Amino acid sequence: MSYAQIIGWGYAVPSRIMTNHDLEKMVDTSDEWIRTRTGISERRIAGPKDTTGTLAIRAAQNALQVADLSPSKVDLIIVATCTPDHPMPAVASMVQDGLGASRAGAFDLNAACSGFVYALSVASGLIAGGLHERILVIGADTMSRLVDWSDRSTCILFGDGAGAVLLQRSESPTGLRAAVLGSDGSGLSSLYIPAGGSRLPLTPELVQNRRNCITMKGSEVYRFAVNAVTHATNQALSAAGLSIDDVDLFIPHQANIRIIQSAAKSLKIPPEKVYSNVQHYGNTSAASIPMALCEAVEEGRVHAGANLAIVGFGAGLSWGAAVVQWGVDTTPVPFSWWKSVVRNFHRREAVVRSFALRTQRRLDALRRMNGINEA
Ligand code: UT7
Repeated sequence: MSYAQIIGWGYAVPSRIMTNHDLEKMVDTSDEWIRTRTGISERRIAGPKDTTGTLAIRAAQNALQVADLSPSKVDLIIVATCTPDHPMPAVASMVQDGLGASRAGAFDLNAACSGFVYALSVASGLIAGGLHERILVIGADTMSRLVDWSDRSTCILFGDGAGAVLLQRSESPTGLRAAVLGSDGSGLSSLYIPAGGSRLPLTPELVQNRRNCITMKGSEVYRFAVNAVTHATNQALSAAGLSIDDVDLFIPHQANIRIIQSAAKSLKIPPEKVYSNVQHYGNTSAASIPMALCEAVEEGRVHAGANLAIVGFGAGLSWGAAVVQWGVDTTPVPFSWWKSVVRNFHRREAVVRSFALRTQRRLDALRRMNGINEA
């Protein structure tokens, strides 16, 4: 029997911080309202050069660094996102190129804020089934690009970021122990982007009316979320043959501290076993769970053998919960100059490789054009 062990982890956020006080200058809101209703104090906002793809590449590079692995050893890249750089191709293909992961397949998965749990389940299944050896699972979103910055009920909630884990086949029984994935598509209009897809292609009028931005029935989603988190977590634990007492750390989707606290209370998980960083990042959609996982590791709250319960929920409506048994030592590896040289070499090699492939493609096109003209 094979298992998918997490051997690398990393995250990336844009440098720009937007505080609640900054938002007070943009919409009719207050720092006090945002903090008491959501627990959020600040969030990171993508700069002009940041995209879902660039954040995902940085998070993946950090995960590869922790695992001390060359990008050429990765077999598959899955990016969970609902804010791709382009409607097509997949962000995962940009990550493959940006990393120089020359042997990897790549695809995106859209389950909105539940995306990371979905992607982790798919990747773990592919590894356990013997199809792949190493898979990068990334949750990445730039929600700020889809927010209506004049709508105070949504713009205060979201932020941008990316988190990644590297899974590797292992004979030791660690990694995903159980997962529960769910969907209730009848709740589509509770949280969605009305225009920009095949149902309502964009027109200047739709853009002017901000129909290409996030629309949400906040209190409806709130009620759904508390319920979904509680039920899915209980189901995943029972599928893993574990009880609430076996959970060492609970890492829910970071959307609202009140949702997290209500769900933890009804699950009877004590506050010291609940991880939250929503105050610093807001809701980063598919990135929120892997980012929280990385920060929990940095803070020394995850150790080999620990049982982690992770749970996501969001647009769809969708939800997903998983129990992950952590399998590796989390002590930071001391800095090694030669490993840093090798890493920089791989990063430059990826840039050069991509440039060479693009140039080759242009030259081929020119040659074909000349051939046609001569004929
Ligand atoms: O990944 C999943 C994504 N979504 C979520 O997780 C969202 C889940 N929902 C929520 O987190 C909460 O419903 C919100 C934080 C969005 C809203 O909190 P609430 O306690 O449900 O507030 P509400 O929507 O019931 O609004 C209460 C009042 C309203 O005023 P009136 O009608 O009572 O006069 C709103 O207009 O608060 C008003 N309000 C605001 N006031 C100041 C709404 N947004 C704001 C704001 N600042 N930013």
